[in-house]
Amino acid sequence: MGKRQRLDKILSHAGFGSRREVKILLRARRVMVNGEVVTSGELGIDPEQDLVLVDGRSVQYREFTYLMLNKPAGYLTATKDRYAPTVLDLVPENWRMRRLAPVGRLDKDTEGLLLLTNDGALAHRLLAPASRVPKTYLVRVDKPVTQVELETLAGGVVLDDGYRTLPAQATLVNGQGLELELTLYEGKFHQVKRMLKAVGKQVTYLQRRSMGPLVLDPELPLGVCRELTMEEIKLLKAIDHRNTSTDG
Ligand code: URA
Repeated sequence: MGKRQRLDKILSHAGFGSRREVKILLRARRVMVNGEVVTSGELGIDPEQDLVLVDGRSVQYREFTYLMLNKPAGYLTATKDRYAPTVLDLVPENWRMRRLAPVGRLDKDTEGLLLLTNDGALAHRLLAPASRVPKTYLVRVDKPVTQVELETLAGGVVLDDGYRTLPAQATLVNGQGLELELTLYEGKFHQVKRMLKAVGKQVTYLQRRSMGPLVLDPELPLGVCRELTMEEIKLLKAIDHRNTSTDG
């Protein structure tokens, strides 16, 4: 038998709104548990055994929430800030109250893929250096990158603090050398910008395209988030498991 949880919590996690909104739903006699109308959110539910229906439809029980955000420039990767807007300001109310946190960080002026979740264990493992989760960036620079510089970026460059970067992948996106794709297996502070600086370039635009198996949804408008699909969640959990179990 699974762990019991309050009915109102289950409904809230499944996307039926705040506890207050769930209360209204219950009062309206729209919720049934194992064939009986239930009006109290305090009822203990075993998600593995009990059948919960709202308006006759079965409720997908979800312990955690996973969101993909297409982060725009101008937002801090933080949950709260006194002065600047944060990525949490882009998350609709019904998700925000689930204590979501960004997994890793993008600079204020960086755009693209940002995962937000309340699955702390998964976030922790994705961020663990030993996991070596690849992150791919689209990078635009002020001056053309030469073939030799591409190889230098891929082989490892020495940053301003003396750190030598791990082997990466670097390819040009167009012939002019002003746009490249960079895949890193680590995540030092401002790493992309500092790597480009090490070869004499300034980053003019930066977008994260992927993180492990998770690819930025091309249909997702800037500033909008959506829940991960079951398939995406499965892929994330699988790579996480494989990496941590081989790399220690
Ligand atoms: N590297 C950077 O320099 N900035 C980011 O936001 C992400 C990676």
